[in-house]
Parts: sequence; C-alpha cells; structure tokens
Amino acid sequence: MAPAATFSLSNWAEPLRQALQPRLRAAVEDAVPRRFAEACIYPLETGGKRVRPLLCLAATQAVGSEPNAATWAAAVAIELVHTYSLVHDDLPAMDDDDERRGRPTVHKAYDDGVAVLVGDALLTAAFEVLARVEDPALAIALVRELSDAAGHRGMIAGQALDIGMEGAVRDLTGLQEVHRRKTGALIRGAVRMGALCGRADAGQLASLTTYGEAVGFAFQLADDVLDADEDQGDDGPPSYVRLLGIEETRRRAESELDWALAALSPMPEAVALRSLATFTVRRDH
Ligand code: IPE
Ligand code: IPE
Ligand code: MG
Repeated sequence: MAPAATFSLSNWAEPLRQALQPRLRAAVEDAVPRRFAEACIYPLETGGKRVRPLLCLAATQAVGSEPNAATWAAAVAIELVHTYSLVHDDLPAMDDDDERRGRPTVHKAYDDGVAVLVGDALLTAAFEVLARVEDPALAIALVRELSDAAGHRGMIAGQALDIGMEGAVRDLTGLQEVHRRKTGALIRGAVRMGALCGRADAGQLASLTTYGEAVGFAFQLADDVLDADEDQGDDGPPSYVRLLGIEETRRRAESELDWALAALSPMPEAVALRSLATFTVRRDH
C-alpha cells in the first residue's frame, strides 16, 4: 500500500465524482413528462462537493474491498437524498433561498410546485436504486440505514427542530441535537452504508460509526466557521461560532478530527477516509 503521505485526495476523488454523475442522472432521467425529467436532473448537475458519496466509497475501501455495484448504488442513493433535502430546504416555506451552488434554486428555475415534486422524485428514486441491489439481505440493510439516517428520527427530525418545532434553540446541547440529526445522521449513514457494502465485520462497523459521528459533527463546526462572516449579530440563527466564539469552534472541529482519525487507527486501508476527515474540517467551501 502507498504511504499516506503520497495520497492525493483530489486525484482519488475526481474520477469517482465523474463516475457518479451519469449514475445520478440515470436514476431520474426517465421521469415523465420530459420537462419534469429536466427539472429532476437540474439540481444534480451542479458541482456539489459530493462529500457523502465519497465517504461511502471510501468506507468500502477502508474495510479492504473495492467499491462494488452495491457501493455505487448506496453512493447514488445518499446523494439523491442529500440533493432532495436541499431542494426542499431552499423552498419559500423553508429557508427561502434563491441560489444554490451558484445557480438559481429549483423553485426559481421552475416553480414551487415543480420543486416539491423534484424533491419527492429524488427521494423516491433513492430507495428504488437501493431496491435494485442484487443481494436482497444487503439491499434491506441499506434501505434500513438510509431510512434511519434520512427519516423522521434523522435528517427530517433535525429539520423539524431547526424550524423551531420545539422552540428556539438557545444552548450548545440543543444546537448539537439539531445537527446530530440534520447533518450528522446522513454523514454517519453514508459511512455505515459503504462499510456494509464492503462486508465490514462488527468491530470495523463500530469504528466506522464512531468515525462517521465525529466527521458529521466536525462538518457542521467547520460550516459554522465558514459562515461566520454571515452571522447577523444577536438576530441570526444560533451557531457554534455565536455560542462558543470562532477560536473555540475551530478548536472543537480539530478535536473531532482527532477523534475521527483515532477511530480509524485499526484500519490501515482507510487512507481516503483519513483524508476526507481532514478535508471536512479544513475545507474552504
Ligand atoms: C450543505 O451540504 C448543507 C448542509 C447539510 C450543511 P454540503 O456542504 O455537503 O453541500 P454541497 O452538496 O457540497 O453543495
Ligand atoms: C440544509 O441545511 C438542509 C439539510 C441539512 C437537510 P441548512 O439550511 O443549514 O444549509 P444551507 O445553508 O441551506 O446549505
Ligand atoms: Mg438552508
């Protein structure tokens, strides 16, 4: 195995991002009518970082396997769910954002009704892709992971807390609870799904779960540092930077990174996962 120092995350990730793209498109391109298929493809075509599918592919590698058809199905399903969550999150009834990844949001490029339906279609397609995984036991395990991560106890629960269904979030514990579900659950699920596709044993799955949880938290801490310039005095939404200050938020992100890397110590083949954890914390976008 090549020493970690020679590993280039961009050289590793770029061909995988390119290989992902036609698979994402294929999941919805036969939508009817034709204009709706275009609307479904629209939010999949712009450059997201693809962090979650990359984590899934890297987790299969971390347990000593090559990404297989099931890993690709899992990677596609996770990015479909992530993209649907953004399409709905940007709607006027939610965050009311006009731009996403430098382009008009789906409801701006089309209209609100189309954007609701695009989200619905992407979410449904994710489970269709998993249902086509050849090994039925693995398919069911993946469906279970993704529904846990994305559903009413996971990402959607986080969104429900985020829109204030339990009142305003004021303290660190409350904020962590929102993020553990809203962002953390899908990142954790991405890693676990990749591990399942690589036939991880119980010990490996436990280590990778710890890794996924730490990376999920670190991702949000880093996001808050990146958004710090946009914080709007006392009127803005709560954030780690507002509650802890920017230096302490940075320090905690680094400490989650240490924790994530420590969880990988029994796994010599987790080179890409190590690098992805570091990227998550030190990225500039
Ligand atoms: C943005 O996620 C929304 C959150 C969950 C914080 P990403 O930062 O992964 O967005 P893309 O996919 O790269 O655009
Ligand atoms: C995005 O959350 C949606 C989900 C994580 C489900 P945010 O509202 O915090 O992220 P941005 O700012 O729209 O990317
Ligand atoms: Mg938003």
